[in-house]
Amino acid sequence: MAELAADKHVKYILSVEKKKDSFESVVMDHLRMNGAYWGLTTLDLLGKLDTVDKDEVISWIMHCQHESGGFAGNIGHDPHILYTLSAVQVLALFDKLDVLDIDKVSNYIVGLQNEDGSFSGDMWGEIDTRFSYIAICCLSLLHCLHKINVEKAVNYIVSCKNMDGGFGCTPGAESHAGQIFCCVGALAITGSLHHVDKDLLGWWLCERQVKSGGLNGRPEKLPDVCYSWWVLSSLIMIDRVDWIDKNKLIKFILDCQDVENGGISDRPDDAVDVFHTYFGVAGLSLLQYPGVKAVDPAFALPVNVVNRIFSSR
Ligand code: FPP
Ligand code: ZN
Repeated sequence: MAELAADKHVKYILSVEKKKDSFESVVMDHLRMNGAYWGLTTLDLLGKLDTVDKDEVISWIMHCQHESGGFAGNIGHDPHILYTLSAVQVLALFDKLDVLDIDKVSNYIVGLQNEDGSFSGDMWGEIDTRFSYIAICCLSLLHCLHKINVEKAVNYIVSCKNMDGGFGCTPGAESHAGQIFCCVGALAITGSLHHVDKDLLGWWLCERQVKSGGLNGRPEKLPDVCYSWWVLSSLIMIDRVDWIDKNKLIKFILDCQDVENGGISDRPDDAVDVFHTYFGVAGLSLLQYPGVKAVDPAFALPVNVVNRIFSSR
């Protein structure tokens, strides 16, 4: 079997950085806030976070904060809950959550909860269980979960549960592995996993493994490295990870590497990108691949970072 080309992947992430003068400018041009989270978490999982200029990244992040308290994908753009979680996660990686005005950030998120317990992504109001997860994950990292109505938030997520055991983006929407990660993650963080039918969902999730060993996100879809994260993290949270063939999945992820120039693609021989590089490395971390730090399946951050946040209380 091929091996993880860890050094090449670090070089690839840093080369994206060096194409311009600094990490900051590249993040501004095309990586933006989510890209910063994917790239920097990959570096941390590979033990190389110290190769980036921490102060520069933190200063850029803080320039992306809007007066509402939310963060934008880039300087001067509109805030959104998606970028707010990425900003908090990157600050957590650097052990720098103390630069935040916690009330301001948490109040922004609290203000996005709707009467039925759901969350909107921003002031324009789109509702999706992704935003429920993000709100719960972010507030938990900030020790502010008590500021929302958790019971209503959980009930809304449960209302998105389907007959097949999976979850969709809104009530009645079809099950999708990405949304399942969000719903199971939010239920795990709030101690509400008793709402999940673990055997039924575990069956649906392990059915996502196809012949090549890769995982897809829904029936009849092609396998994709990012589903190594969405499916595997969910299986781990419901304690059913032994229901898939782990070695075949490891082989599929390793087959998606560009072993010459670094980076991981969605499936073998496609072009690499930072998103799939992150979810490939994070998937290998969940599979306990040697040389990769352990990642927390609910918070999507290295386990040592999550432990630091929750042991400081
Ligand atoms: C598939 O997207 C993935 C999802 C729908 C889940 C996205 C989850 C978040 C944004 C929450 C934050 C995540 C982390 C890890 C902290 P896709 O658009 O690629 O789906 P497709 O395969 O159907 O195109
Ligand atoms: Zn993908």
